[in-house]
Order: sequence, then structure tokens, then C-alpha cells
Amino acid sequence: MRAAGVTEFGGPEALHLVDVPEVHAGPGEVRVAVRAAAVNPTDTNSRSGFYVSPGVPPEMPWIPGMDLAGVVDEVGPDTDGRLAVGDRVMAVVLPTGSHGAYREQVVLPAASVVPVPAGADDAAASSLPMNGLTARLALDRMALRPGDVLAVTGAAGSFGGYVVQLAKAEGLTVVADASEADTALVRSLGADVVLPRGEGFAAAVRERYPDGVAGLADGSVQGAQVLPAVRDGGVVTTVRGYRGEDAPAELARGLRVVPVFVRDYGTNTAALDRLREQAEAGVVTLRVADVLPAAEAAEAHRRLEAGGVRGRLVLSF
Ligand SMILES: NC(=O)c1ccc[n+]([C@@H]2O[C@H](COP(=O)([O-])OP(=O)(O)OC[C@H]3O[C@@H](n4cnc5c(N)ncnc54)[C@H](OP(=O)(O)O)[C@@H]3O)[C@@H](O)[C@H]2O)c1
Repeated sequence: MRAAGVTEFGGPEALHLVDVPEVHAGPGEVRVAVRAAAVNPTDTNSRSGFYVSPGVPPEMPWIPGMDLAGVVDEVGPDTDGRLAVGDRVMAVVLPTGSHGAYREQVVLPAASVVPVPAGADDAAASSLPMNGLTARLALDRMALRPGDVLAVTGAAGSFGGYVVQLAKAEGLTVVADASEADTALVRSLGADVVLPRGEGFAAAVRERYPDGVAGLADGSVQGAQVLPAVRDGGVVTTVRGYRGEDAPAELARGLRVVPVFVRDYGTNTAALDRLREQAEAGVVTLRVADVLPAAEAAEAHRRLEAGGVRGRLVLSF
């Protein structure tokens, strides 16, 4: 069975097609014949060896990838009965060691798998689960109230874009960052106020909201740079484990800096299925930059690492 992975960690060129053994669904699991696997920023870290546990020899080949769409082709015993062979589905894949989404066949907990949004093709459907769930998780952790102001950085990106759209659907006021080139895109996602991205974002937010905003989702991973945008006692969600450790003065203002990890929603079927409904209702927009054959995974990683990709790059199998 074909997969796109590495046999030695390295740059994009380390990715190539590899042969991996066929897999079968066990209890509570389904097997999906993968048609599309989205290429996310975290996959480039995975490919580079960043996620290898110290002292544990990595299992090779190592296959990146955290979300996908395809067709159920095997249902194991003791699943909840929602899924049947032949169903078109999308799923979040929590990588454990060498197990990732860039493969023709994948076995997953049935709870991580839901039907694709009606009308979405495989590439579009594959782009939703991982970042959609992370955006959902960030909003749930912040627990803001309708009318509260939420700032979003990296708003043109996948995570940030979903945060903007889901927050608007919940009645929050959204102030988002964008480059000049991305301003129309970020406005089209529903942001109420768009301010220039980069170092000056927090100051620009404070100019507009002198007391600071209630919450901030930091999709651009700017860390301490953006904390001053948030009011005393407000909340910031971060996506790379940042807890405000280098900003004691901000924490002393009562800021809660909360790292979110999609694994906490990895088997949250209800949350994933709600995202499906929201995609069908047009609440969230599925954005695909390009679809490349799996054999061109290295090229997809090169393009992602160069920056400026809008919408997800997707590998087809
Ligand atoms: N913890 C988790 O479970 C989890 C889950 C999902 C995502 N993530 C992380 O969340 C982050 C965002 O993911 P994504 O898929 O949304 O990435 P993305 O689509 O590449 O979006 C990131 C956005 O931030 C922009 N950006 C980068 N550096 C910036 C800076 N210094 N100032 C302003 N904007 C900047 C990017 O612009 P350019 O393209 O122009 O650089 C892009 O628009 C990644 O680090 C990802 O690994 C974590």
C-alpha cells in the first residue's frame, strides 16, 4: 500500500512514496480508503523529526498528515453503527509515531470519522477536520459571550479563518489581522474590523479598543507580541504550546494564556459532525489552494514552507 513519508527526517526532499503494510480495522475502528490528505504546517515539523520522543527510536517509514477524506472500506466490530462501507467520510488523524494521513489506507477510531459535507469534493472535505476542530476547541476554551470582542491573528490562514467564521456565527465581534493583499479575504470571512498584520497588531487593537479585547486566538504564533491586545483578566489561546512564560507582566494582569491541542477533540464526533453541518450551511468555507498527486508531497511541503499559501494544499491518492 502506498504512502508518502520519510525514511530519514529532513527537508521537503526527504518525502517520497513508500510501501507500507495493509492495515485492518479493529474494535471501534474503521478503515478508510484515502482519496485526499490535507497538508498542514505541523506536517513539516513531523517530516523534520520534531515530534520524535527522546530515547524512542522512530518507526520508519514515518508518515505525516492529520486530516483526510475518503471512503469507508472496512468497519471493525463494536463501532457505534453510524458508518458503513462505501460512505464518503472525512476524519482527523492523531499521529502516533509513524501513523499519519498521507496514505492510501488508514485505520482510525470510528469516533474520529464523520460523513463529508454534502456537496464538498474530497479535497475540500479533507481540509476541514484538523483546523476546524482546533478552532472549535479554541473558542470552547475561551468561552466568550455574544457581543464580546475576539481578536484573531493569522486570520487568512486555515485555523484563523475558521476561528473568524465560527466566532461570527456565535455572535462575537471579530477584529482580525491581514496583509493588504489578504484584507478582502479576511473581510469576506466575516471579520468586523481588519487591522494590519504583524508586530503592530496589538497596538492597533488597543487604539481601536482602549481597554483591550476579551479574547485572542493567536493563529500566527506571535506569542508575547500580541498579548497586550487583550484586556486585564482576558484569555488568549495559542497553538504551539505557548503559555506566556516569557511575559510575566502580562500574566500579572490576570491574562490566561491557554495552549490548545487538537488531540483533545480527536474523538469528539459531535464537534466534527457539527463542523460538517456548518460547512453545509456555509458558516465555514472550505478553501483549497491546490491538489497535487501524493508522489508530489515534497513539492507541496516546499510550497507550504515558502509561506503565502491561502487555502490548503491537498495530496490526492
Ligand atoms: N495545537 C494544535 O492542535 C494545532 C492545530 C492546528 C494548527 N496548529 C498550528 O496553528 C498554526 C496555524 O495553522 P494554519 O494551518 O492556520 O496555518 P496557515 O494556514 O499557514 O496560517 C497561518 C497564517 O499566519 C500568517 N503568519 C505567519 N507568520 C506571521 C506573522 N509573523 N505575522 C502575521 N501573520 C503571520 C501566515 O501568513 P504567510 O502565509 O504569509 O506566512 C498565514 O496567513 C500553525 O502553527 C499550526 O501548526 C496547531
